Amino acid sequence: MIFDDNERIVTGDFIEEDADIEIGLRPRRLEDYLGQEKVKENMGIFINAAKDRREPLDHVLLYGPPGLGKTTLAGVIANEMGVNIRITSGPAIEKAGDLAAILTNLSQNDILFIDEIHRMSRTVEEILYPAMEDFALDIIIGKGPSAKSIRLDLPKFTLIGATTRAGLLSPPLRDRFGVLSRLELYTPDELKHIVKRSANILGVNIDDEGAAEIASRSRGTPRIANRLLKRVRDFAQVMYDGKITKEVAKESLLKLEIDEQGLDMIDNKMITAMIKNFAGGPVGLETLAATIGEEPDTIEDVYEPYLMQLGYISRTPRGRIVTREGYAHFGIEMPE
Ligand SMILES: Nc1ncnc2c1ncn2[C@@H]1O[C@H](COP(=O)(O)OP(=O)(O)OP(=O)(O)O)[C@@H](O)[C@H]1O
Ligand SMILES: [Mg+2]
Repeated sequence: MIFDDNERIVTGDFIEEDADIEIGLRPRRLEDYLGQEKVKENMGIFINAAKDRREPLDHVLLYGPPGLGKTTLAGVIANEMGVNIRITSGPAIEKAGDLAAILTNLSQNDILFIDEIHRMSRTVEEILYPAMEDFALDIIIGKGPSAKSIRLDLPKFTLIGATTRAGLLSPPLRDRFGVLSRLELYTPDELKHIVKRSANILGVNIDDEGAAEIASRSRGTPRIANRLLKRVRDFAQVMYDGKITKEVAKESLLKLEIDEQGLDMIDNKMITAMIKNFAGGPVGLETLAATIGEEPDTIEDVYEPYLMQLGYISRTPRGRIVTREGYAHFGIEMPE
């Protein structure tokens, strides 16, 4: 059976139903950006230093699994710096000229945010090198032997790039970022605060235990936490008196087939395949992907980080293995 990842309620990726709440819930200030303490502390220092010197911030690369707040953080940084942010994405910039046009339209200190920066083409990428390093644009005028290269000055700007994996970036591009920040999966406690903040904004009545219940099933991911909150709110409205308690959250999430740890059928399928077909591993990524009919990238970006955080699988030099905890969670006895 092959699942469409879009239909998965616990995917970290953006899905259509997130659209109506996501913008309203997006923190605008660093103090509302909950969790990620290390990244936040460093970023706060860099922002203040840059503001003191009246200079743009160093170029920043944000990386980490989908839904952890890369786009949100880029917006927060722009807000805290008090500058404009121009948002685009790697696949959206088709030609070198498209990027040149964006760059020449920036103002001093502006932020250019390029999402999915690893998906930029090589020719577009090469425009970025002098732009990032020297705030310059090299353009070639004319053709053949009479062609001349002229250099245009650009305003000093900050590039913020986002990617799900820094390893997908070409080394020359990666080296031109002054700040590399890796976002980590959130702890259940951090997610509980995010759920409470979101409930507050949405005007949803929720108690502490209700928030904790949603948080612990959100796979370390704020986007999932907000999505589950929205779903549970609907259950609470229709079947209970509107208030989200532990019981209400539990009941609703059970109906959505999300287990206590936020695992769903796909995780189930992957781990049982590892146990049944490969005796718990080690199994290589490609082989595993082929067995369950998923893309290796999806497994690596979306499923694995959380399963590893839970300690249900681990990576060895010879491949992935299911741990003792993994066996226990799925109620299967581990062979000696
Ligand atoms: N630190 C945070 N505190 C509170 N809410 C957050 C935080 N980070 C993210 N969110 C919420 O999660 C949602 C998803 O975050 P965001 O779109 O920034 O993720 P992303 O990392 O850019 O994902 P993608 O990889 O899909 O682009 C936001 O709309 C926001 O409401
Ligand atoms: Mg994003």
